[in-house]
Amino acid sequence: MNDRPVRFGLVGFGAWGQHHANAIQVTDGAELVAVSASSQASADSAKKTYEAVDVYTDYREMVQRSDLDVIDVVVPSYLHHEVASAVLRADKHLLLEKPMGVSLQECDEMIQLANDRELMLAVGHELRLSSMWGKAKEMIDDGFIGDPLYALVELSRNPYRQGANGWRYDIDRVGSWVLEEPIHFFDLARWYLQSNGNPSSVYASANSRQPGHPELQDNFSAIMHFDGGAYAVVSQTLAAFEHHQTIKVTGTKGALWASWSGAMDRTRHPTFSLRAFDGETVQTVPIDKPTGELFELEDQIARMVDAFRNGKELHCTGKDGRWSVAMCLAAEASIRSGKPELIRQAS
Ligand SMILES: NC(=O)c1ccc[n+]([C@@H]2O[C@H](COP(=O)([O-])OP(=O)(O)OC[C@H]3O[C@@H](n4cnc5c(N)ncnc54)[C@H](OP(=O)(O)O)[C@@H]3O)[C@@H](O)[C@H]2O)c1
Repeated sequence: MNDRPVRFGLVGFGAWGQHHANAIQVTDGAELVAVSASSQASADSAKKTYEAVDVYTDYREMVQRSDLDVIDVVVPSYLHHEVASAVLRADKHLLLEKPMGVSLQECDEMIQLANDRELMLAVGHELRLSSMWGKAKEMIDDGFIGDPLYALVELSRNPYRQGANGWRYDIDRVGSWVLEEPIHFFDLARWYLQSNGNPSSVYASANSRQPGHPELQDNFSAIMHFDGGAYAVVSQTLAAFEHHQTIKVTGTKGALWASWSGAMDRTRHPTFSLRAFDGETVQTVPIDKPTGELFELEDQIARMVDAFRNGKELHCTGKDGRWSVAMCLAAEASIRSGKPELIRQAS
């Protein structure tokens, strides 16, 4: 076991990138060594916050440093493939925010690069590390509800932020709004129903409050079928308030019901609960650690440290990240065609 700090570089110092920087800074065994931003204003802000850290305005320069172990990429989604490929070509391990890419070809190329160079490629589906969403997974895998047959993953929240230079509301740069947030829920649904094999097809509907912009889907719902017979419903509205997420999973024997609420997604003071029915009695399952994306982000950095030092398995691999993109792109295609669409597996 190697005890020296794992040296991180970070590309992207926007709203979420700043949380990554903080998570690296507070994680035992991790050291934030370098940050790359795009504008001078963001570079100055990074330097002001982290005086001891080297700051770049060209990530290509930063990734060439020989003293970085892991590079964490938190840039707008259309740049994931470009920046992540440069990281892997520079022989650095990679933590890449979701969506892994905006096309399956991008995902396949990154997986190939990481495999060829024997590098770690982890994707930022941090909900898998949650004390509550993760406890639900553990109970499902332990057979608490019998064979899982159905999962509902649902969110109602306030509208999205614009993002730097408005990228989140520009469909060419965001790729699809299904890739923005519902991608987390497709990932959870596939994870929970894994004993049913692969997801095979999806039928989705969406609408928008914005005249002339059907692609900006305020309301989105999908029903996804699995090879083994189970199905999942993924549903989201951005036309609501605060941040409220629910899962309901039922099986041949019992059921789980978990919910999380906060004034916003990034609160450190949420309310949450997991209730479980084993076919006879209902119990409230104790959750020993607070859950929420800021907590899980720190756990994600800790997992990268453990993976680097001790070979611990990644919480979400490139293959998982590709599946998430495949489910979302099939849902997006279904919205346009009005028909169920097949989900493309890796060749
Ligand atoms: N896992 C999660 O829960 C989660 C949550 C939120 C976001 N995300 C993902 O994280 C990514 C970033 O989202 P965000 O909300 O942080 O967006 P954001 O606030 O718009 O920030 C994006 C940042 O990327 C920087 N950037 C753009 N091009 C760059 C380049 N070539 N080199 C270095 N930096 C560059 C921008 O720099 P300037 O400021 O200089 O323009 C900006 O600061 C997206 O892919 C999003 O989907 C994931």
